[in-house]
Amino acid sequence: MPFAHITGWGMYVPEPILTNEDLSKLVETSDEWIRERTGIRERRIARDTDFPSTMGAEAALQALKIANLAPTELDLIICASSSPEYIFPSTACIIQDRIGATKAGAFDLQAACTGFVYALNMGAQAIRSGSVKNVLVIGTEALSRFVNWKDRNTCILFGDGAGAFVLQASDQPGGVMSAVMHSDGSGADTLSLPGGGSRHPATEATVREGKHFIQMDGKEVFRFATRVMGRAVTEALEQVHLTTNDVQWIVPHQANYRIIESAAKHLKTPLNKFVVNVERYGNTSTASIPIATIEAAQKSQIKTKDKVVFVAFGAGLTWGAMVVEWTGPLPAKKKVRIEPYRLFARLRSFFRRVLRRLEGILARKEL
Ligand code: ACO
Repeated sequence: MPFAHITGWGMYVPEPILTNEDLSKLVETSDEWIRERTGIRERRIARDTDFPSTMGAEAALQALKIANLAPTELDLIICASSSPEYIFPSTACIIQDRIGATKAGAFDLQAACTGFVYALNMGAQAIRSGSVKNVLVIGTEALSRFVNWKDRNTCILFGDGAGAFVLQASDQPGGVMSAVMHSDGSGADTLSLPGGGSRHPATEATVREGKHFIQMDGKEVFRFATRVMGRAVTEALEQVHLTTNDVQWIVPHQANYRIIESAAKHLKTPLNKFVVNVERYGNTSTASIPIATIEAAQKSQIKTKDKVVFVAFGAGLTWGAMVVEWTGPLPAKKKVRIEPYRLFARLRSFFRRVLRRLEGILARKEL
């Protein structure tokens, strides 16, 4: 059975920074309150030209560059997002077109902030089954578009950005070692975005009632998160007969520094084993784990052969954890240049659209 290795990684965050100071001009809050209760100092906000697909594609191309893998070699793209571009088509398909992944299947996975852990596990399982060799897993968010900038309970928390991993099959042991996925739909109303779906299709009334904004019972989510994080880590480690002493790094979902502190306490593990960057990005949902991991890898904190745990929680309610052995690029015979694929993808997309239109005209004439 092949092993699923993480061989490439990439991230993208939009340039505009929104500080706590800036927020205090929008709602009644203060830098001190936000830092004390959440650990967040600032977050990135998508510009009008940034979308989950554009940010996800940038992260994906970087990840492919590190993996030394052409987009045309991808078999599958799984995109986890809590702020997908549309209900359909999937953001994964738009990314597939943007990067020119000509032979890849593509779909979105919805498990809120736990989405990246779920998606990575699904990608790894597809590789283990032998049905695919190269998988791109993306977490990408423009959550700022669903934030009520008048609600101080939620607007202080969220930020935008994207992260991507390339998973590749190899006979060498390593890569994704274990994973647990959990859910409890009885807590569905604790954290939701109720408007725009088939239960509350967008109408003047739903907009008036603010149903298109994130709704959250912060205290309840906090309690849930502190209950499940430590347990999920232990469960994933037990599957491979490891303890926290055997792992070099734990990368938790970056929602709130106090939630991470509480997980460390529950696991009786020093906080310096946890990768934390919530102060600079806030909660970027599915993108938070890859962004934190990539920054730690770029600083050479996470190194080849390190055992790393990812743990996340989110709306659904969902939660999950995963143990991986960090790999890096597989040995390659030649260097793949990724940049030309960007242009190739644009041209290919343009010509396919033109061709589709022409075919449409011809078909109508024949009728
Ligand atoms: N600035 C100042 N005061 C505030 C703010 C603010 N931004 N927000 C709330 N307050 C006030 C409240 O109104 C309340 O005042 P009151 O006592 O007069 O009623 C007081 O501060 C305390 O409020 P709490 O809600 O008790 O504050 P708490 O310490 O619980 O922190 C927070 C709130 C930060 C939202 C916390 O509960 C939290 O982080 N929860 C988890 C949220 C989360 O992680 N969500 C994402 C999940 S992942 C996903 O799937 C998207």
